[in-house]
Amino acid sequence: MRHLIDPMDLSVEEIDELLDLADDIIAHKDKYAKVCEGKKLATLFFEPSTRTRLSFEAAMMELGGNVLGFSSSDSSSSAKGESVADTVKVVSCYADIIAMRHPKEGAPLLASLKSDAPIINAGDGGHNHPTQTLTDLLTIRREKGKLSDVTVGFCGDLKFGRTVHSLIKALSRYENIRYIMISPVELEIPKYLREEVFEQKGISYEQVRTIDEVIDRLDILYMTRVQRERFFNEADYIRLKDTYILDMPKLKNAKEDLSILHPLPRVNEISVEVDDDPRACYFRQALNGKYVRMALIMKLLGIEKPE
Ligand code: CP
Repeated sequence: MRHLIDPMDLSVEEIDELLDLADDIIAHKDKYAKVCEGKKLATLFFEPSTRTRLSFEAAMMELGGNVLGFSSSDSSSSAKGESVADTVKVVSCYADIIAMRHPKEGAPLLASLKSDAPIINAGDGGHNHPTQTLTDLLTIRREKGKLSDVTVGFCGDLKFGRTVHSLIKALSRYENIRYIMISPVELEIPKYLREEVFEQKGISYEQVRTIDEVIDRLDILYMTRVQRERFFNEADYIRLKDTYILDMPKLKNAKEDLSILHPLPRVNEISVEVDDDPRACYFRQALNGKYVRMALIMKLLGIEKPE
């Protein structure tokens, strides 16, 4: 039984296979309409979500399977004090596969040790979000035609943004990626990522404070929301929340084929006027999330690609 807890749980070859399968699902949706008939996905969301939970549920429905679950800890027995381990042990009697989001780092890993069904980490605190990473990789590959030899600017909350952490880890296995970290000093990437990914692998990166000074060099701009829910005090959040706002004047010197990604939800960090620019990929990215989750569900359930 395979789980997906960390993006590095998948080899580069397995990621390529998943992205190929997602591309095939996009091209031939009807072929996949019944491959999960009789299977059930449980979505256990102890923290709010729109895209991840609903795209997982839509993914399972489009594969012909069924879904069950809860969308907040308040509506589960964790509100009565039940442990994550007990919850998952029980739910794995009812479902064939489980997608779980939790505010505590490591909760899905703990769940995977107790579960009788595959566990997919749908986001754990400020740590990892591996299915967002698959979504991001599929989007980059579909937009750029490759996952190597690109300059990527990560902008915003690089400290608490789990999507950034997971994507940096995943990209570190591809060739010739140039990393530019755009953040205030308080929201720089965590020390463990600097040490375990960049320093250990001998990968260099730039750290800058403004979008303006690097926008003309970027192939991909990965914008992020300042993660209010992970701040220890509201005053710091208010001070930092609007550090970066991407609008049309900011894109004046950007490449014509820049791809603007954002895991969403956004607050103010991308002005809505940017949405109509063909370089804005974030809504296509959200759709890609459904298809790559369909591919992942099939892989973890051991379902072969239909002829
Ligand atoms: N990108 C993402 O994880 O969005 P949700 O929080 O809405 O699931």
